[in-house]
Amino acid sequence: MITSFVLLGLAARALSECTREVLITASNAYISAQSSGSLTTFNTLSANLTYLENNITVTPSTSLLATPIKIDFNRTIHDTVLCRTYIELTAATNPHPYVISTALYLTDDKITYVDSVVADAGDWAFNATGHLTYTKSESWPSIPPSAQLPRAQIQAAADAYLDSWGNGSVPVPYGTPCARLEGGSYTDTKNSGKNTCKMPEFPKPFYAGNRRYIVDVEMGAVAVFNDFPFIEKTKPAGTPSVNFVRVEGGSVGGIRYVHENTVCATRNCGR
Ligand SMILES: *[C@@H]1O[C@H](CO)[C@@H](O)[C@H](O)[C@H]1NC(C)=O
Ligand SMILES: *[C@@H]1O[C@H](CO)[C@@H](O)[C@H](O)[C@H]1NC(C)=O
Ligand SMILES: *[C@@H]1O[C@H](CO)[C@@H](O)[C@H](O)[C@H]1NC(C)=O
Ligand SMILES: *[C@@H]1O[C@H](CO)[C@@H](O)[C@H](O)[C@H]1NC(C)=O
Ligand SMILES: *[C@@H]1O[C@H](CO)[C@@H](O)[C@H](O)[C@H]1NC(C)=O
Repeated sequence: MITSFVLLGLAARALSECTREVLITASNAYISAQSSGSLTTFNTLSANLTYLENNITVTPSTSLLATPIKIDFNRTIHDTVLCRTYIELTAATNPHPYVISTALYLTDDKITYVDSVVADAGDWAFNATGHLTYTKSESWPSIPPSAQLPRAQIQAAADAYLDSWGNGSVPVPYGTPCARLEGGSYTDTKNSGKNTCKMPEFPKPFYAGNRRYIVDVEMGAVAVFNDFPFIEKTKPAGTPSVNFVRVEGGSVGGIRYVHENTVCATRNCGR
């Protein structure tokens, strides 16, 4: 009897959920590997791994993870429903500055898939010093259970934001205040208390597709990996991009922060 309950529990967990603790162990191992360049712990936690770096399949030993990087700051979220974690690393004082947006997908408590968007000089509005200044200035505390929003609402807010780029009629639940960090550029350097996130429409048709999500209701946050349809003739499929969105209830009442990290095929996406 006890055995079958245990087995049922394990089966249910394997199908749908994993613990925050397991996800935190994985994200810490990733961050440690990137800091040290040593893959030992990361490899121990991985199984049958597929590793994408800017949409190209690599092995961990040939990826950027095998190069030690001085990490100045990270923001990390954990999705216990999809068993994914999202890690945003800012490396501004490293000899080669980077902003790295990485998702780890876990299966049976092992890292089986890594999706990493690595931005550096020449990528969209890239300025790691600016990124570090502004991400550090923000406040993303964990949200008490009574104030947490449903994951569907958090994801829908980010989807509406991305949809509005190609269709300005889509209502976006912006909060007040709202600030956006794109590369190293910030929309609210003066801390105005206003919604400074509203995006103008891009020339149509414009749709950021192939969306993959990591949602953390405790952090009120979602990372949306997508193919950014920048008008670059050399990359008709678009380029790897992540929008990392924080949504709050209460007096903010909507999107509080957006961080965009977009890789360009040509310098500054041809702008
Ligand atoms: C290993 O990963 C591949 C590609 O993601 C998948 O098709 C295959 O089923 C996996 N094998 C095992 C044993 O999990
Ligand atoms: C990543 O962020 C966590 C939480 O803010 C912090 O405790 C940890 O030291 C950071 N790691 C690095 C390498 O900066
Ligand atoms: C990068 O951002 C920092 C901090 O906002 C700023 O002082 C610097 O001028 C920026 N560099 C460039 C090349 O824009
Ligand atoms: C644009 O968004 C509005 C509001 O959601 C919707 O009614 C309309 O059908 C959309 N237009 C297109 C071309 O998708
Ligand atoms: C990423 O690769 C997949 C499969 O090779 C392709 O379908 C997709 O268009 C690529 N995305 C980008 C942004 O290059």
